Amino acid sequence: MKIEDYLSSLPNSIISGEDVELSDETLREIFRFANLTKNDIFYHLGCGKGNSIIIALEEFMVKKAIGIDNNKEKISQGQESLQKKHITNGSFRHQDITISDINDASVILFWFSDEKIIEKMIPRFQNLKSGCKIITIWGPLTGHMPDKIDFPYILNVIPFKKAESLRDQMLAIFNTDCIDFAVAWEFADRYSKAIGSKNVENDRFLTILQTLVIWINAKNLGIACGDDIPDPVKSYIGILKTFFNIEVEHLLDH
Ligand SMILES: C[S@@+](CC[C@H](N)C(=O)[O-])C[C@H]1O[C@@H](n2cnc3c(N)ncnc32)[C@H](O)[C@@H]1O
Repeated sequence: MKIEDYLSSLPNSIISGEDVELSDETLREIFRFANLTKNDIFYHLGCGKGNSIIIALEEFMVKKAIGIDNNKEKISQGQESLQKKHITNGSFRHQDITISDINDASVILFWFSDEKIIEKMIPRFQNLKSGCKIITIWGPLTGHMPDKIDFPYILNVIPFKKAESLRDQMLAIFNTDCIDFAVAWEFADRYSKAIGSKNVENDRFLTILQTLVIWINAKNLGIACGDDIPDPVKSYIGILKTFFNIEVEHLLDH
């Protein structure tokens, strides 16, 4: 079956990533990456049950931290944690992030892959004060050049800088002139480690899929190294087809 059919056979909550929460260690890594400090007003959009808010306040001493999520249960859990810890400069809002007031933000964590949400949020981000940092994971903000990268963490600072092309954006993210198998694998692996479970086998499967997605996109954009399909890419395409009945080869523009 084609990879698109495989993906659409998965439960909706997996595709939307609704129940995926970043681990506390990943959150700390992200906050160090963004240099979160006591002067910051931190927002986590789609905060889930909101461990990020507690960590930002307790460990990074931010001035204020606000978590927003449209899932009532998760927001209640977050509110309970704040009450238990008697934290007063943190808050949670049960709201749609596309209409929520985020005007006083200085650092925002925004991990969404839904293009419709990203499209709605970009103009809202552009109205924020100069110097405000938007952290995304895996993908950059559509059409903009990142200011700092420690893949899979990506930072865009207001005012945004327009990207000339997807090609330029991708080369900046991968910090290379061309993408070969090793680069694609390394970056896919970093992503699996940042968002993965503690289950190594699942992570390996995710890494194989993401490696092929990165390499095939690079090839189609004309930024893969060389003209031939590297042997490891051929092998993994074969493994996915033979052992998992998942086809990806048709994604290549021939
Ligand atoms: C961090 S986001 C999405 C993560 C996903 N892995 C991705 O790449 O898009 C998941 C959280 O966002 C929340 N969420 C989804 N859409 C939302 C919206 N429009 N407004 C507020 N919260 C939202 C969900 O309830 C969930 O807790």
